[in-house]
Amino acid sequence: MRVVSGIQPTGNLHLGNYLGAIRNWVRMQDEIAGADGSTKEEGGECLFFLADLHAISMAHDPAALKAGTLEMTAALVACGIDPDKSILFNQAQVPAHAELQWLLSGTARMGWLNRMTQFKDKSGKNREGASIALFTYPVLQAADVLLYQATHVPVGDDQKQHLELARDIAQKFNGDFCTEDAPVFTLPEPIVPAEAARIMSLRNGSAKMSKSDPSEMSRINLHDDADMITKKIKKAKSDADDLPSEVAGLEGRPEALNLVTIYAAITGETADSVLSQYGGKGFGTLKPALAEVLVDAFAPISARFRELKDDRESLDAILARGAAKARQRGEDTLKQTYDALGLVRG
Ligand code: TYM
Repeated sequence: MRVVSGIQPTGNLHLGNYLGAIRNWVRMQDEIAGADGSTKEEGGECLFFLADLHAISMAHDPAALKAGTLEMTAALVACGIDPDKSILFNQAQVPAHAELQWLLSGTARMGWLNRMTQFKDKSGKNREGASIALFTYPVLQAADVLLYQATHVPVGDDQKQHLELARDIAQKFNGDFCTEDAPVFTLPEPIVPAEAARIMSLRNGSAKMSKSDPSEMSRINLHDDADMITKKIKKAKSDADDLPSEVAGLEGRPEALNLVTIYAAITGETADSVLSQYGGKGFGTLKPALAEVLVDAFAPISARFRELKDDRESLDAILARGAAKARQRGEDTLKQTYDALGLVRG
């Protein structure tokens, strides 16, 4: 089992990232490595990275990217990613990501990329003005996971399409350039949580919670203190109706469904079990209870984050150590890719 996943170091780590992806990273890390540091599975390994190369596909401030990369590293460690159990690094320190992206660009098809919904969303009406990087972004994402022969990729729902593309690229490359018994690439499997795969904005139940939403009130950030979390939940969009006793009764009420989903994901219950307690009650009852469970869940994480975030030296060292290991893990696949394509390298 080889677990690989990434997060863009732009903006703050929010509740959607945490519930949709990072919680699974930590769970898988501890499954493979064992909470006591022993290796449970021979050859099993987790690689988690800051997707700083992806972050330059949109207009960005270089100083903010640099600071954000270290901050996001602190945030991941605060959430439970342990640099002694997982390989934690940033793409920019492992040139093989960019190299493999180019090598895979001969295999990826324009038609495949044209279908990517994230490109359509992010480029909006200004398709002609979008960067080339935004268009070829999913090829870099494919390189990120294929480089390490990832078997499992824990992500939120919005990344599933990119992972399908990675599988298509791997399959076509293996078919075009390898013999059947010696494929270069492993087909990666997306691991998407059953609940909380798509946490929505607190201001709009039909838009996903996102780092790029201009409204701070739309998301709960890892570093929000108890007062801020309580305020954001209090102001979260809801409706005037009482809650039903089953999830089926929430149809057409996306904001209400989102708040119940968040409650369930944080407490580890199903949405139906949450509603068996809150059915017949209104948001005046659910919201304070939700704020409380969120504050309890995030308090130890944000305390740890505050401790770590200004220790530049330790954060730099974590990334350098992770990158050295990642460079080594990717070497063989990169070489095989050059060879399969007939590229002479002396
Ligand atoms: P990014 O930085 O947007 O998000 C990081 C992870 O958080 C998940 N996520 C959510 N899950 C549930 N609800 C939400 N509202 C929500 N918002 C974000 C994302 O699905 C993701 O798992 N392209 C990727 C980064 C990336 C990557 C990769 C991921 C680059 N290379 C290779 C996996 C494998 C991205 O921008 O994620």
